[in-house]
Amino acid sequence: MIKGDSEEYSLIVQQIKKLKIDRATLTCEVGLREGLGSKTIMDAIREHNPKLYKHIAIDPYGNLAYQHYDEPDNIINAGYDDEMMQRTVTELYKNYKEFNFFNMTDDYYFKTMGEGHQFCYQSNLMIYGLYKVVHLDGPHTTPAVIDELVFFIPRMENESIIIIDDYQLLSLGIVDMLLKTYNFNVAEKGDSKIIYKKEI
Ligand SMILES: C[S@@+](CC[C@H](N)C(=O)[O-])C[C@H]1O[C@@H](n2cnc3c(N)ncnc32)[C@H](O)[C@@H]1O
Repeated sequence: MIKGDSEEYSLIVQQIKKLKIDRATLTCEVGLREGLGSKTIMDAIREHNPKLYKHIAIDPYGNLAYQHYDEPDNIINAGYDDEMMQRTVTELYKNYKEFNFFNMTDDYYFKTMGEGHQFCYQSNLMIYGLYKVVHLDGPHTTPAVIDELVFFIPRMENESIIIIDDYQLLSLGIVDMLLKTYNFNVAEKGDSKIIYKKEI
């Protein structure tokens, strides 16, 4: 069963409802766990009936011990193992043809997938690499989130949203300054999730 570990998925749905989706659509979640973030995004995008849509989910699983939050002694193993991966990824592939799983850390994805993704349209291939929705829900340290933003900000569509989970545990000042510098403003703020939107 697809499950979540956080709150406020309805904020994501509300913001996706407001987006204009009329071309190839690319969305991404960093940190899949048991799938509810990705399922929420894909269900909400489906409401727009996109003609061409890919959702990317990035997660290394493997029971990795890593630093979850900024406190230095926070390197822990939270049990995100390969059984969880198999269960979650199987169910999402079964129900969502737009689902694409990358079994790797975010930094390796950034090193290898910066050009974009292949889309097939009317039996022809194109590469498209601009994201409409990004959910940052992997490592919640400030440096990790900044690295994620450095990759995604130049690859966001003119109208797009970036959702950051557990934002209250970050040094939000620098994150907020980075996003505002690139025309992302706060569209929604809950207790755990903050959503930035760019509209050019
Ligand atoms: C908080 S959970 C994600 C929850 C999920 N988004 C949801 O809505 O239910 C964090 C996930 O991030 C993954 N993760 C840890 N380090 C990562 C990294 N460097 N890149 C991508 N994902 C990572 C973990 O394996 C774990 O599944």
